Amino acid sequence: MTASTVNLTLLRRSAAQRFPGREPQVDQLLRYLGQPADTSPPFLFIYGHESTGKTSIVRFILSEIFDSTHAAYISCVECYTPRLVFEHILKQLGDSHPSFETGFLSNVKCDSMQEFISFMRRLDGAHQLPRYIVFDNAEKLRDMGPTFLPAFLRIAELTDIPTTIILISCVPWDKFRPRNGIQEPLLVRFPIYGKEDTMKILALKCPSDEPLDFYLSFISVVYDVFSRNCKDINELRHLVALLFPKFCEPLFDGRAKRSEVPKLFRLCQTYFAAAADKLYLREISSAEWLRHIRVRRPGDDSDDNSSDPEDSGTSILGNPIESDALHLRIKTKLDFDLPYYTKFLLIASFLASYNPARLDVRFFSKGKESTSYSKRGKQAIQKQMMSNTGGKHRQQLLGPKSFPIERMLAIFYSILVDPIENSIEIQSQIASLVTLRLLVRTSNASQLDGIKCKCNVSYELIRHISHSVQFEIENYLFDFI
Ligand SMILES: Nc1ncnc2c1ncn2[C@@H]1O[C@H](COP(=O)(O)OP(=O)(O)OP(=O)(O)O)[C@@H](O)[C@H]1O
Ligand SMILES: [Mg+2]
Repeated sequence: MTASTVNLTLLRRSAAQRFPGREPQVDQLLRYLGQPADTSPPFLFIYGHESTGKTSIVRFILSEIFDSTHAAYISCVECYTPRLVFEHILKQLGDSHPSFETGFLSNVKCDSMQEFISFMRRLDGAHQLPRYIVFDNAEKLRDMGPTFLPAFLRIAELTDIPTTIILISCVPWDKFRPRNGIQEPLLVRFPIYGKEDTMKILALKCPSDEPLDFYLSFISVVYDVFSRNCKDINELRHLVALLFPKFCEPLFDGRAKRSEVPKLFRLCQTYFAAAADKLYLREISSAEWLRHIRVRRPGDDSDDNSSDPEDSGTSILGNPIESDALHLRIKTKLDFDLPYYTKFLLIASFLASYNPARLDVRFFSKGKESTSYSKRGKQAIQKQMMSNTGGKHRQQLLGPKSFPIERMLAIFYSILVDPIENSIEIQSQIASLVTLRLLVRTSNASQLDGIKCKCNVSYELIRHISHSVQFEIENYLFDFI
């Protein structure tokens, strides 16, 4: 079997065009991999932060140099057991991908390293050309047992096939290296991009109808605003895609010209702030964000959520409604996140603070609906409360009452859909809520028994939190019945 040669100069040039800022890494990889028939180093380790182009570049180079039966790519996130790893490698190297001819069935079944080795030996033309096995997210290999990786590194010796193992990881080699020792790899580092390279990468997606200079000045602003906290190419691309239409908006309604970049930036500032609030954490998807800031044209009062605003591409190019973005920001303030059970603890605390204790049995006893008490009984309680407090919503006005922790826990266990066991974690979550000042301890700090607390959150916030866990707090608050 002979292997065709590859024009490495051309390949280098096309890789440089496709992946600006990665010329040194591409050069290094091409030097190590060489021509398909060349013998390569047995072990390469490629590492760098997220979105630095590791996967894209390695896959591009391998696909350009080798045909698919000589290089296998394994994502260790998808192939999370040794069996999946073996079978995926064999499917790729043996070219037994599910196909129409084979009835979309794959016939490779391989459970152990011994079987894998014997399958490898039987591959067509196995002994003539080197093979390449790429493990992406390679840090996950460490979960497959201490001998898995060392065995793979000896695969060439065990199968008599020259094989190069390429690991791609976000973990540097010094932290990756197993304790029991392993051969040293050749390292290829993918450093984080600087401003110049980031701009070149982002400029690849410049819309065909926009002047490159104008687009670059926008990207430069985006980079300056966001790069302190976020240098991730994927995130920056996402932000650029969302904000560019807003940045251009004043051009279309005549409020600014292309040359007035600072003015355009000033007009778009609200959206930059809203995007920073909402999109760093990807609390909402880009489609949701666009729906929020979507502009309704005059006469358009249909709630047209079914059409995808991203697809249409024109949906946010109307007049800006700045209050929308501001409203988004205000909403964000209520949108901090807590663990799932902690949210229920906070809800239980709110209920304990705002409901009369003697109604707990009626509201929260298991098997009883909150509406199970008679209408007369409900009216009597309301009447009594009104005479005591001078008005129905009085408790909301008076503020929270203290409650014993045991009462709050009783409410907590009754409102949970799936029961959990009382554990140390619940106690530590209560302590965290106190630290966050969402619960305020009202009993003496030296008192360890009979601790009392107050809930320190507003109705608006608790309603928001309850909605996030699909709990209808209105049905359990005395003020609302
Ligand atoms: N130099 C570059 N030129 C063009 N696009 C790039 C460059 N670097 C990264 N990208 C793009 O960034 C995105 C993320 O790249 P990729 O998935 O290869 O990164 P990664 O280092 O493998 O990230 P992770 O560690 O999260 O897997 C891809 O869309 C890729 O095309
Ligand atoms: Mg990757």
